[in-house]
Amino acid sequence: MCPYSKTSNRGGTTTNILVTGGAGYIGTHTCIALIEAGHTVVVADNLSNSKRESIETIKRITNQEIPFYEVDISDRQAVERIFETNHIDGVIHFAGLKAVGESVEKPATYYENNLISTLVLVNSCLKYGINRFVFSSSATVYGENEVPFVETMERYPTTNPYGETKAMCERILTDIAKANPLFSVSLLRYFNPVGAHESGLIGEVPTGIPNNLMPYLTQVAKGKIDDLSIFGNDYPTIDGTGVRDYIHVMDLAEGHVAALTYLKKGAHIYNLGTGQGTSVLQLVKAFEQANGVTISYKMVPRRSGDIACCYADVDKARRELQWIAKRDVITMCKDAWRFEQNNLHQEV
Ligand code: NAD
Ligand code: WQD
Repeated sequence: MCPYSKTSNRGGTTTNILVTGGAGYIGTHTCIALIEAGHTVVVADNLSNSKRESIETIKRITNQEIPFYEVDISDRQAVERIFETNHIDGVIHFAGLKAVGESVEKPATYYENNLISTLVLVNSCLKYGINRFVFSSSATVYGENEVPFVETMERYPTTNPYGETKAMCERILTDIAKANPLFSVSLLRYFNPVGAHESGLIGEVPTGIPNNLMPYLTQVAKGKIDDLSIFGNDYPTIDGTGVRDYIHVMDLAEGHVAALTYLKKGAHIYNLGTGQGTSVLQLVKAFEQANGVTISYKMVPRRSGDIACCYADVDKARRELQWIAKRDVITMCKDAWRFEQNNLHQEV
């Protein structure tokens, strides 16, 4: 038995969940959380941004068999075959392309992949009578808004095609829930997922130079990159650097288990964040303190498309999903660094 396996049924009903994109960063951690909560999982992923080994690692951590399908979720026949050969009680749909900058360069690819996969999947669910659906949305759909971001806010246009795909999928799934009274969908708006499983065996593996702050920090700490460029120190924030709501990926994963448990008819939006804002400089200091390393950094101009400040109002998730994030920024930094130090598959 792997020392990290905590498999136990906490008294909930066991369900078999199709996890699309389950070989990716958030998907792998969510598979672990689902199995720990007593569910079983089937994973479908085209491995466009992940590796088959991650499925083997989940098996090692959880000591469970995981049926894995290397398929594109836009392939209707392949998706229907999964529903024909497995009894599926619900779906968590992570599969999607997620790089904001790349979506500006390749909008057609992003709209095709993220919209068609969602349409194919949800239509197949309707055909096979699967009425429990959880969708990965993003805080990016709020655009530039007043903080804290609350689910009832009017959405502002996002600055990139990636964000638009999330907003469009939310709309599609909301309309489908309206037309199908048995259909339940949670639209989960993630803030900034960071960190890794406590085992250090799975975590985020960016392709090439990371876009996001935490993987950039771990690579500077490891000496793969000389220094961190901090994008802007003239924002109206505590120290002039951008503020975000970083959430530990295992808290996020547990948020998905809660969302499945408390699914209710119709479409319901939930913010998954901590409710706490942390500036870039504060995260750098926390990383240094947590891991006893020094991060060399320089100030550079703002990155186009960035907003000053983004953090969640988490009251709805707390009330309706009985869920709150438990892990602090120091734990996020420690776990991210442990994974970076262990990670043998970093060079993709
Ligand atoms: P990821 O790239 O690590 O995982 C996504 C997985 O989906 C990958 O394994 C990829 O191979 C797979 N995939 C992509 N298109 C597919 C398709 N058409 N068919 C089958 N598989 C496909 O990304 P992640 O960080 O784990 O994100 C998961 C989801 O959460 C995405 O939808 C992303 O947009 C959303 N999200 C992520 C963040 C973040 O910062 N990581 C924030 C908000 C929302
Ligand atoms: C965080 C802060 C940067 C890198 C992105 C997507 C969003 C969502 C989560 C998917 C900002 C600063 C960063 C660096 C820096 N993904 N920074 N130097 O931009 O908040 O959100 O990931 O849905 O849609 O946009 O995350 O980690 O890139 O940036 O100074 O090298 O760190 O300016 O203030 P972001 P991030």
